[in-house]
Amino acid sequence: MNTFPIIPKPYSMSPIPGVFRFSGHTRIIARDGLEPIGVYLKEVIQSIAGLSLDVSSAEMKPPSAGTILLTLMGENQVLGREGYQLEISNNEIVIRAPHPSGVFYSIQTLRQLMQASHRDQQLSEGGDCLIPAVKIEDRPRFRWRGMHLDVARHMYPIDFIKRFIDLMALHKLNTFHWHLTDDQGWRIEIKKYPGLTEIGSRRKATPIPANRQVSDGIPYKGFYTQDQVREIVDYATRRFVTVIPEIELPGHVLAALASYPELGCTGGSYQVATSWGVFEDVFCAGNEKVYEFLEDVLNEVIELFPAGYIHIGGDEVPKDRWNHCQKCQSMIEKQGLKNAAELQSYFIKRIAAFLSTRRRRIIGWDETLEGGLAADATVMVWRDASYGVQAARMGHDVIMCPTEYCYFDTYQAQDQEREPPAIGGFLPLEKVYAFEPIPDELNPDQTKHILGGQGNIWTEYIPTPEGVEYMAFPRATALAEVLWSPQEVKDYKDFCQRLRGFLRHLDGLGVHYRDPFAVKTLRGVGLHNSL
Ligand code: ACM
Ligand code: ZN
Repeated sequence: MNTFPIIPKPYSMSPIPGVFRFSGHTRIIARDGLEPIGVYLKEVIQSIAGLSLDVSSAEMKPPSAGTILLTLMGENQVLGREGYQLEISNNEIVIRAPHPSGVFYSIQTLRQLMQASHRDQQLSEGGDCLIPAVKIEDRPRFRWRGMHLDVARHMYPIDFIKRFIDLMALHKLNTFHWHLTDDQGWRIEIKKYPGLTEIGSRRKATPIPANRQVSDGIPYKGFYTQDQVREIVDYATRRFVTVIPEIELPGHVLAALASYPELGCTGGSYQVATSWGVFEDVFCAGNEKVYEFLEDVLNEVIELFPAGYIHIGGDEVPKDRWNHCQKCQSMIEKQGLKNAAELQSYFIKRIAAFLSTRRRRIIGWDETLEGGLAADATVMVWRDASYGVQAARMGHDVIMCPTEYCYFDTYQAQDQEREPPAIGGFLPLEKVYAFEPIPDELNPDQTKHILGGQGNIWTEYIPTPEGVEYMAFPRATALAEVLWSPQEVKDYKDFCQRLRGFLRHLDGLGVHYRDPFAVKTLRGVGLHNSL
């Protein structure tokens, strides 16, 4: 076996002689207020090794058969906010980290070591869980390690959202970008505007994947209540995952316009979209009621999501309606703007200014760069890396998820006949692994603006949770290593070797990943519903 089959590969590892043996007498000692993480570790060990261990906050006397000690160590320049030290020896496992997040990540590492050796032990002796002694020092390369999930085109049960967050945590991914609104559905309850979910969360039909011009005629609906949203945010917080909501504006808003037609330039009528694409109808940028509406909506969103960022979309905004709208033209004149492109910039800046009064910063897709952007706005790059270069040079923070490397709604194999329907394009595992978030063109100062990257899962052709897993894994596994591990240790062959073991771990968790080493596809196991 590969002795340390850990993904993402740690910053440094030094094997030492010996093994640690887990038994029913092993104790978990969680100091410094780390008991909740101690209990999480207990659950992890229970699920892998079937052992139910004691968790306490103080040393037991006499020293027991073996201890796992969790402690905080004070600030550490090298380890930063998320790093940790993990020392495994004959009698004890010692975990030290500057912050609880590092302790949590050390458990993700320990969990993978246990899973691997337990698997091997079971195969050979059917016995105890033994793990090799080692000293690991680990820390992430990037602070934004994200996965995006579109729940507007198709949505998934709350339990699946939790599972997705759990799988992110296993990969040491720390940011869940929740795409909650779009033309085809509004999926978050807003108390002040019940129409958004009464009308905006329902569409009459969905295009058939096999023939994208034809709709299935089957009504589709659903949304998350505010209680459910709070439950998800709380669940994620306990796994050190920050949830960033995306409320799209001023485009991709047909579901909102269908609910409140007075917010569009023409007044309607509108219906929640039953096809995919980019639609002409967007929020009217010349109507004060639109800004009032959005401030009300965002006020409720802020209450639900404690993160410092709100994603406000900003992508794919056709200007045709604005060019022909009296109100929009008056606004252009009143604000001294040149054209509709500047009106978009005005719109985004105005929302950003409102959010800053609520101590929130905006993230926008890279189109928000056009016509200028508030200095503290963060740009999420989706089209190509050149927008990241432009944004970083202008002094904006940047999150990289260029289509070419990070769109996990694409095909994974050249033989597309074997794959479930996808958005088009081809993004194999090896290419994700080759992704480098920092563009060559940037100097060291500009490089500091690259916060990290994320994988994006748009769900036009992904109606089921199993489909999401198939598209996400193991591409997210490769991305996790890109975002966590030092650039110098990246090696695709070595990654693949570790991945073989890691996939057995995913098997144990029942994940419907795409197996890059075998021809087992989602289509092959019949999980995609419209095939
Ligand atoms: C996007 O894919 N339109 C952000
Ligand atoms: Zn207008």
